[in-house]
Amino acid sequence: MGACLSRCNVRSPEEVPGLSNSAGYTIQENAIENQSRLMQIEERHTSGAYRKRPLVIVRGLGVKVIDTEGREYLDMTSGQGVALLGHSHPAVIQAINKQASRLVTCPQIFFNDQRAALYEELVTHLPKGFDRFILCNSGAEAVEGAIKLARLVTGRPGIIAMKHGFHGRTLGALSATWEPRYRRPFEPLLPGFQHIPFNDTGAAEEMIDDQTAAVLLEVVQGESGVHLAEGSYLRKLRELCHARGALLIFDEIQTGLGRTGSWFAFQHEGVIPDVMCLGKGIAGGLPMGVVAWRGELGILQPGSHGTTLGGNPLACATARATLQVLKEERLPERAKQVGEKFLDRLRRRSHPMVRED
Ligand SMILES: Cc1ncc(COP(=O)(O)O)c(C=O)c1O
Repeated sequence: MGACLSRCNVRSPEEVPGLSNSAGYTIQENAIENQSRLMQIEERHTSGAYRKRPLVIVRGLGVKVIDTEGREYLDMTSGQGVALLGHSHPAVIQAINKQASRLVTCPQIFFNDQRAALYEELVTHLPKGFDRFILCNSGAEAVEGAIKLARLVTGRPGIIAMKHGFHGRTLGALSATWEPRYRRPFEPLLPGFQHIPFNDTGAAEEMIDDQTAAVLLEVVQGESGVHLAEGSYLRKLRELCHARGALLIFDEIQTGLGRTGSWFAFQHEGVIPDVMCLGKGIAGGLPMGVVAWRGELGILQPGSHGTTLGGNPLACATARATLQVLKEERLPERAKQVGEKFLDRLRRRSHPMVRED
């Protein structure tokens, strides 16, 4: 993240509205002391799984994040793909406040107004027929759900994923993730997973068979550079899955909700999957993952899947607010315009760190 946070003009803490109040302590008096104390505490207790950057972020405002000393940075990570609306968007704040004072938790064995409204909203953004959902708490959990769904629907074990693909780090999702560095320490992973070269129609033709429950891929791979699936490849996968009885699952956790200039990345090529995984910023930064699928595939049996916190009213209300803003402010279109501008500039100015293969 360090490489992706770019330092803005430095303002003194008192110039940053509300910083000392919201952070809960007075920045001017003990900012540096606080910063190193907080870092030490985290270092003492962290799992060790994260390579930490020496920055204590205590606030976010739009495209900026602010550290304990009131220094502002442009958040070029957008919270690792989560801050779809920027930080502290008023609609997100309002939705959280309002729902927090009404009802935070409500297990899915009961019905809930916010969850029902979110389902209805989601249906309006998805391709026709996508009207069944698993609501969970993260991207990896959505991938787990999609894998289970595919095995249940098809009665087959096989999952074909892509070389260089990334789908998360829980054991099922990790089995679909390609990077050997992430996988090896935890092997043996789940049986039935194979990885084929991305954009290679011949390999897909060879590997998808009557034991394949699903082909799982990102439409834009983001782990090892930025690799776009070719339209002809997606069309071939669609055709093969259809012909051989396997499901086509698109992991749109990173690419969904406007980030590629359309609501979903698959819309650029018009190839519709059977199942889709969403996550990251869908609930304005509160934890949420979603599996969406074409209802005609069927539904899960009671008890076959579940999660205590998934689909809680607080996350659902915040997701509704997030989707509303994306729609009302036409942010997918804006992403397209801004993206084109950036791409044009990147192409015109050569830089050793930027390369197009
Ligand atoms: C494409 C893709 N799938 C799955 C995941 C896992 O999501 P999470 O970190 O919420 O578990 C990520 C996370 O970066 C991702 O980029």
